[in-house]
Amino acid sequence: MSHPRIAVLASGRGSNLQAILDAIASGALRARLAGVFSDRPQAAALHRVPAALRWSAKPASFESRDAYEQALGDAIAASGADWIVCAGYMRILGDALIQRFAGRMLNIHPSLLPRHRGLGTHAAALAAGDAEHGCSVHFVIPELDAGTVIAQARLAIAPGETPERLAQRVLALEHLLLPATLKLAVSGRLAERGGTALVDGQPMFTPLTLDSTNGLAPLPRPIP
Ligand code: GRF
Repeated sequence: MSHPRIAVLASGRGSNLQAILDAIASGALRARLAGVFSDRPQAAALHRVPAALRWSAKPASFESRDAYEQALGDAIAASGADWIVCAGYMRILGDALIQRFAGRMLNIHPSLLPRHRGLGTHAAALAAGDAEHGCSVHFVIPELDAGTVIAQARLAIAPGETPERLAQRVLALEHLLLPATLKLAVSGRLAERGGTALVDGQPMFTPLTLDSTNGLAPLPRPIP
């Protein structure tokens, strides 16, 4: 049986995409990259993969946002993607596109959701005086950064921390959390129903967390 396919949506640098590519290359993530899809043809992320796996189009070159998202959705569907991951995709997705891939579209967000949705999360965590910060992988729903959280990785905010330093430290966690969560997704053990994440068919009431081996815990049984 061939490996499940992952499509990645990215607008910028693509370091999370790289973490996925590295996990695939090392054999830790038994998946194939279906393609990289971008709203910015100049995105560095696109250049991390061969040309045949790149799709990009400027939304402004379409007559409407719906037309752009129809084309994007068609390209994702044509790639045969089983899972779709937004990894630094900087546009808010429309309902039709989200509906089309409901239950198999994930996003990585640099905060401990539900704290600090949207942009500027590192400065927001500092301004709020939070003791902890981190990142979350969640199912995408039409409301921004509001879908069910599947897994999180956290760190303690250090005295004198700056938003830039915090961003770096959280990014390092993102690079572990995203492949670990995708491992669960492509193993066929993750699903979403009625706003609840299910693992092995059982509802998950609190997000999974990264353990010291960079796996997810508590899982009913490990991913082989
Ligand atoms: C990451 O911090 C991600 O959580 C956020 O945008 C950033 C993308 O970084 N949504 P990269 O393009 O993966 O390097």
